[in-house]
Amino acid sequence: MKGVVLAGGLGTRLYPLTKITNKHLLPVYDKPMILYALDTLKRSGIGEIMVVCGREHAGHFMHFLGSGKEYGVKLSYALQDKNDGGISDALLYAEDFADRDSIAVILGDNIFENDFSKEISAFTSGAMVFFKKVPDPERFGVAVFDKSGTKLIAIEEKPAKPKSEYAQTGLYLYDFNIFSYIKKLKPSRRGELEITDANSMYLIRGELTYSIIKGKWYDTGTFDSLLAASMELAKAAKGKKQ
Ligand code: G1P
Repeated sequence: MKGVVLAGGLGTRLYPLTKITNKHLLPVYDKPMILYALDTLKRSGIGEIMVVCGREHAGHFMHFLGSGKEYGVKLSYALQDKNDGGISDALLYAEDFADRDSIAVILGDNIFENDFSKEISAFTSGAMVFFKKVPDPERFGVAVFDKSGTKLIAIEEKPAKPKSEYAQTGLYLYDFNIFSYIKKLKPSRRGELEITDANSMYLIRGELTYSIIKGKWYDTGTFDSLLAASMELAKAAKGKKQ
């Protein structure tokens, strides 16, 4: 399976840092954020990866990552014409790259401890999402389960009153239908094509599976979450050395 790292967006929540470069190149402890996402795909057995980024800092990505050789992956790049269309809009740029096959998509600001080799090698069709229990689900897409607590019945994007504590993380496995589903989406209230709406299209067709991840997960899109991730990763790295 090929992989896609979505590294676009305006990064307004991290302004003025994102005036200097793209959010996904900012440091998380001892390396630029995007390396964690690349590493997650690599650890999961994916070696051919497309980075989708905005035009503004595209040169920074290419200068830093190059062909990907240094990091043990083969990279290609797609440039978004405009970077405020949302995650689903960014993914559309990878349609030719996917070449009618399934793809693993990771948001460039997500840091996972887990690898996903098992799920990726078992994946055949539909879509798969990964949830993590968090204390602040209102910041994310949130899983809604039926009364049994196991059947996923909806995913709500940043609900004011979350119906579970399970956040939708930024890793998704899709079959090639994802591109036709995205083309049917309408912009949300924030004017973006939401990944949650694309996932919901699989869900209503009974084609969405999910897994709950046990390892640590960090989303680094705000000053507080960026700082918390850096501190925890520093602590973990020092722990390993001792
Ligand atoms: C996006 C998704 C959200 C998901 C989150 C994970 O949110 O829309 O459903 O929970 O990534 O990082 P955003 O970071 O664009 O606000």
